[in-house]
Amino acid sequence: MNFHIMTLFPEMVMNGLNTSIIGRAIDKGLLTVEAVNIRDYAFNKHQSVDDYPYGGGAGMLMQAEPIYQTYQALTGKMNLPEGRKPRVVYLSPQGQTFSQGMAEELALEEELVLLCGHYEGIDERVLEEIVTDYVSIGDYVLTGGELPAMVMVDAISRLVPGVLHNDVSAEFESFQDNLLEYPQYSRPEEWHGRKVPEILLSGHHANVEKWRREQAIIRTAQRRPDLLEKAELSEKEQKMLAS
Ligand code: ADE
Repeated sequence: MNFHIMTLFPEMVMNGLNTSIIGRAIDKGLLTVEAVNIRDYAFNKHQSVDDYPYGGGAGMLMQAEPIYQTYQALTGKMNLPEGRKPRVVYLSPQGQTFSQGMAEELALEEELVLLCGHYEGIDERVLEEIVTDYVSIGDYVLTGGELPAMVMVDAISRLVPGVLHNDVSAEFESFQDNLLEYPQYSRPEEWHGRKVPEILLSGHHANVEKWRREQAIIRTAQRRPDLLEKAELSEKEQKMLAS
């Protein structure tokens, strides 16, 4: 999968993504991440990419043309079937809230363009021209789209086959079936007076699985009751929760 990030701060994005699991996946050739500097496509001699908003108001806006030129340069190099355009995500607090489901859907794309805004926003016309998806990472305002873009690259990349060491680790985890993940323990058996639940030491696989699902349900009810409403629980599980 190939990520193309349009940004005024390419080094911020690349420094953040070149490490750990994502860095290794890039080294293995499972992913490519390129950060393209929009300023390289500025069309005036001062290389400025922003200007005052028509109608007045605070701050500056990113202009349409440098962003469009960056997009043209990127897509010109892509290997897409005739007439197909890549998905272009604009990171903005005005977007749909990013979710695991969205990450799963986007992980199926071969090419994904992420557009990071700065200043007070971007000239609406270029958004209309190139953007296919508006995505927010939560209801708060950041200074730019770079951190949200990195969040998306991370969440999507780990779903690309081969990126995680073992593909089962993406199998049962938080948000699978709208449940949070069950609690986990490693050695030692007792730490600060806290014991590992007996059942996990039993070696009885079916009982362990049953306990884990119960714990996932209880934890979701306590921490994210909003998620639990979307989870499919058996009658027995609903009774267990009610008791
Ligand atoms: N840009 C600024 N704030 C943002 C947010 N919460 N999500 C996505 N992009 C943003």
